[in-house]
Amino acid sequence: MIRRILGLLALTLVSFGAAAAFKPNAATVLITGSNHGLGLELARQYADLGWNVIATARRPPGDPGLAALQEIQAQHPNLVIERLDVTDTKMIQALAAKYHDQPIDVLLNNAAAVEPTFAQDMAEVSKPYDQIDFDAAAHDFDVNTLGPMRVVQAFAPNVFLSKQKKMVAITSSAGSFATPLPGAIGMNYGASKAALNKYMTLLAVALKPKGVLVELYQPVFVATKDDAKSMRGAAPVNQEVAKLIKLIDTQGAEASGKITNFSTGKIDAF
Ligand SMILES: NC(=O)c1ccc[n+]([C@@H]2O[C@H](COP(=O)([O-])OP(=O)(O)OC[C@H]3O[C@@H](n4cnc5c(N)ncnc54)[C@H](OP(=O)(O)O)[C@@H]3O)[C@@H](O)[C@H]2O)c1
Repeated sequence: MIRRILGLLALTLVSFGAAAAFKPNAATVLITGSNHGLGLELARQYADLGWNVIATARRPPGDPGLAALQEIQAQHPNLVIERLDVTDTKMIQALAAKYHDQPIDVLLNNAAAVEPTFAQDMAEVSKPYDQIDFDAAAHDFDVNTLGPMRVVQAFAPNVFLSKQKKMVAITSSAGSFATPLPGAIGMNYGASKAALNKYMTLLAVALKPKGVLVELYQPVFVATKDDAKSMRGAAPVNQEVAKLIKLIDTQGAEASGKITNFSTGKIDAF
């Protein structure tokens, strides 16, 4: 009995702590994979705009890969860092319990199983059918497809509580049937993003009666890796993320169940 009371007390304190840093009248965003690339810049720009930011990353406290996010946090009391591995259902549910009464206006599924360099990414996504590593393929689907659905399932009540009610997933043209990237690019990664697109379009229909908008976004090519920065066509991360945030902010029902290309601002075919 005493253990139960202590447990409830701990949960209450944790919940109070979670909400304490936040401005009560500001909108709130939860971002997955926010320690690097698009996710990191999303965390920075949303925090600069005065949003409450739940910046999540799979890395444990003290991991050097969190340093850039911690620098942003030091400037922004409205940003909290939480550990969240999108393949870990229990971890996701525990975080949702911690934030159980926190409205989340934008639930932003950004994390993906990608390589640390552009060169490694290209090598990995270009493997043809006869070289598929099925463990790697299962991991891609676990992170890129099931991960967002786990996050959606756990945090849907928070989105229902919010004013804006938006669920966003970052996809890739590697998952496109209409305009696939050339060659074998995307055998695992692309298939996992195509499946993500399918989940999100079904979700848009399922959540329409609740007033939730489910939006897919993809870029052309953003220089999130160091070795991509000097490549032709690689757009600066801060520029592309500013476009993405503006689109999320301004688009309404017309974007739900669709893919908006945030580099061009146009709707892309599936
Ligand atoms: N950059 C582009 O041109 C481009 C093009 C098309 C689509 N996208 C999409 O944009 C999104 C962001 O990609 P990016 O270019 O910004 O790549 P990135 O810089 O490598 O960021 C990927 C993020 O996902 C995180 N992540 C990986 N596995 C995870 C897991 N199991 N749980 C939680 N987080 C996990 C990574 O964390 P760690 O640091 O711990 O690995 C990292 O923070 C992805 O969905 C990607 O598919 C990007």
